[in-house]
Amino acid sequence: MYPFKEGDFAPRNGWYVAAFCEDIGEALLSRWILGQPVVLYRKADGTAVAVGGRCPHRYYPLGESLRVGDAIQCGYHGITFGADGRCTRVPSQDTVPGVYKIPSYPLVERGLWAFIWMGDPELADEALIPSAADMGFGLDGYIYKPFSTLHVEGRYQLLNDNLLDLTHLGFLHASSIGSEENASAPEERQVGERKVVSRRWLRGAACPPLMAQNTGYAGPIDRLAGMTFFAPGFHAGLDDTYVVAGDPERGGECLQSVKVFHAVTPATRHETNYFFALGGTSEAQVEALKIALPPVLDEDAFATVEIEKILTRCETLLPELMLKSDGTAVEGRRILQRMMDAERALS
Ligand code: FES
Ligand SMILES: [Fe+2]
Repeated sequence: MYPFKEGDFAPRNGWYVAAFCEDIGEALLSRWILGQPVVLYRKADGTAVAVGGRCPHRYYPLGESLRVGDAIQCGYHGITFGADGRCTRVPSQDTVPGVYKIPSYPLVERGLWAFIWMGDPELADEALIPSAADMGFGLDGYIYKPFSTLHVEGRYQLLNDNLLDLTHLGFLHASSIGSEENASAPEERQVGERKVVSRRWLRGAACPPLMAQNTGYAGPIDRLAGMTFFAPGFHAGLDDTYVVAGDPERGGECLQSVKVFHAVTPATRHETNYFFALGGTSEAQVEALKIALPPVLDEDAFATVEIEKILTRCETLLPELMLKSDGTAVEGRRILQRMMDAERALS
């Protein structure tokens, strides 16, 4: 399906963010991931686990069921499953049929995020999760906080495309975080096997309204902005803003340095889990952005939902007309398509 080959949806053999670690607790947390219901919770010993969310008996949602110790007792007829997915009890009979089990998914907590592997468990290599250093996480002088978990009614690749092309900042986010220079500044790109790095130095750019409001400075700025995509769905970005170098008094002074983290996880073919977190250099700055940024994320969600409507409702869809600025998104799509091709070759 668009923008991938006919029938292709998303790679399965990859680590996706299932939740922020802080959202996984004693209570059962339901989430759709790659077209499957999943239940997340923390065992009594503190380990976070992820199991299938569909009872194999009559398909009752296990996320709406009862936690009994480290097991889940289905809310319909009481069949019980351990954290490893094995069935431990069938109330209506003495024996447990061997076929009674639910999937148990590898889950790894790194930084603020719990990463899940929905594909072949034999291939779940933790080295494929981006390291804290690679993400720009855990740096001295930064405070990191989860900001939001959104459910977006649009296919996940629309959000990946959005994050791989920051030329939209000066237009979709003109009233807050962007200026035209986000599009006109030259882009530097590096492409790896599962990674795409994009950076832009904006020189003498207009100070976007939200930045002026948060920093008290509205004059021209120099700005380093960029994003690194770790396939299949993690984007780690940086946004460093300085008083323009030519300013005789304050030239080069850092006004704001921010790390942003967007995790894009397919829920179903046409819905997406969208996790956003941020790192800033002071509590006050992070708190101010926590109030100011939700409308910006809503603009990205709005674009995604509206494009999804066009994709699903148009009788005839002409091919996209690509531009030079689409190069980074195209590289991101190529990586995901390669991953899906490789999975098909294995099956
Ligand atoms: S549907 Fe779960 S026990 Fe019947
Ligand atoms: Fe955006």
